[in-house]
Amino acid sequence: MWDYSEKVKQHFFNPKNAKLVSDANARGDVGSISCGDALSLSLKVNPDTEIIEDAGFQTFGCGSAIASSSALTEIIIGKTLDDALKVTNQEIADFLDGLPPEKMHCSVMGMEALHAAVANYRGEVMEDDHEEGELICKCFAIDDLMIKRVVKANGLQSIEEVVNYTKAGGACTSCHEKIEWVLDEALAETAEAGIDVAAVARANQKVAAVPQPIAATAKPKMAVVSETSDPEHAKRLALIEQVIDEVRPAVQADGGDIQLVDVEDHLVFVSMSGNCSGCGLSGLTLANLEIKISDALGETVTVFPLQPSSEDAEKKEATYDL
Ligand code: FES
Repeated sequence: MWDYSEKVKQHFFNPKNAKLVSDANARGDVGSISCGDALSLSLKVNPDTEIIEDAGFQTFGCGSAIASSSALTEIIIGKTLDDALKVTNQEIADFLDGLPPEKMHCSVMGMEALHAAVANYRGEVMEDDHEEGELICKCFAIDDLMIKRVVKANGLQSIEEVVNYTKAGGACTSCHEKIEWVLDEALAETAEAGIDVAAVARANQKVAAVPQPIAATAKPKMAVVSETSDPEHAKRLALIEQVIDEVRPAVQADGGDIQLVDVEDHLVFVSMSGNCSGCGLSGLTLANLEIKISDALGETVTVFPLQPSSEDAEKKEATYDL
C-alpha cells in the first residue's frame, strides 16, 4: 500500500479537466492501454498569444496517473507554450505534495504528453518516436532517449529509480542490462556537460514534500444502488451494474473480479480484484468497460479503478490504492 498526500486523493476523486477539449488544436498521446497506462492530453492554444486557454485529459491508469494528469492541466492552463514546456515532472509531483517514488512515472507521463501536444501544435515530429531512439523496454515501449531525458532531468542513478520514473524494466526485467547501459551513458553525458547528477537528485528531494500516510479510517464510499432515493440515479446505477455484469464473466475467467464501488456524476469507480488487480492488461478491461457504460448511458463517463484489500474483497470494501 502506498502513502498518498491529501492532494493526490483530492485530484483522484475530483479530477480537474477530465475531458476532451472540444475545440482543441493540439493533442499529445503517450503510453499504451496494453501497457496499463495511457494519457491523451488535448489543448486549446490561442494562435496569437500561444497561451493555453484550455486543457483536458483522458487517462487509463492508476489513480496517481489520474491525479498527475489533473495536476498537469491545472498547472499549464494560462501559461504560454514556452512557459508550459519549462514544467518538469518534479513540479507535477510537488503540486500534488509529492508522489510515492514508485509512482513518479505518472508525473513523467504527464510531462511527456505535454511535450507531445506542443510538438503536435507546432507540427514537429517528436524526437523519441522510436525512429530515432532505440527501443529498450519492449513491455512498456520505452526507448533510450526517454530514459536518458528522465535520468538527466531527475538526477536518477540506479535501475530501481529508472523503473520508478519510467516503468521501463518493471515487468519481465529482461531489459535491465540494456537499461544499465543507457543509464551509464546518460550519467557519462551529464558528467561531460558538467552537471552534478547527485546535486539534481538532492534538489528534487529537497523540494518534494513527503506524502502523508492515509488515515486508517479513510475508505471510498460503497456502491449506493440500494441507498439512492433518486429514481434517475437508480436507473443509471442499474444500467452500469448491468454492463459490469456483462463483462464480469470474462474477467472471472481470467481469475479476477470487478465490482462497482460508486458513481459520482460522470465518474464511475470500480474495484478490481484477484488476477486483475495490478495486471497491466486491466487497462484494456477498463477501456472496454468505459466504452460500454458510455454507450449504455448515452453519455461519456470515465471509469476509475480502485483496488480492494484482500481481506475485504468479499465485502466489496476497498482501500485507496491510487
Ligand atoms: S522488456 Fe522491459 S520489462 Fe520486459
